[in-house]
Amino acid sequence: MSDKILAFGCDHAGLTLKLELMEAARSLGFSVIDCGTTSEESVDYPDFANKVVEVLKSQQASLGVLMCGTGIGMSMVANRHPKIRAAVCHTELEARLAREHNNANILCLGGRILGADQAKSCLEAFLSAHFSGGRHTQRVEKIG
Ligand code: RB5
Repeated sequence: MSDKILAFGCDHAGLTLKLELMEAARSLGFSVIDCGTTSEESVDYPDFANKVVEVLKSQQASLGVLMCGTGIGMSMVANRHPKIRAAVCHTELEARLAREHNNANILCLGGRILGADQAKSCLEAFLSAHFSGGRHTQRVEKIG
């Protein structure tokens, strides 16, 4: 599995942000798999969260990025799956710590909450951070 491949998914409320962040990810040297949605027609966010999870489970991508209006619905759906650790983040610090302490494998962002620049900062922090291991390992293992 390449750690330079990311899976992106969104609903209608996250579409604009997804397009901007996929471009930002490409400019950082990542390849992206776009799991939709691809238009502003109203859709149900669980369908797209589940698609991104399937891409991660099949090891086509190492990390996912999910966007809806708030990021909350996406995180709820993704976190129902074993071994998926999805974190809603609003700041670079949260995004970095979600990787370092929680070994998050999906970043969830709110298209109606964050501006593009703030969201890009969160994405960059998430992608450049790594799980710290150590005392965090057994805690993450207890999540299941
Ligand atoms: C869609 O209107 C909105 O409810 C959805 O994008 C998301 O914010 C749910 O968590």
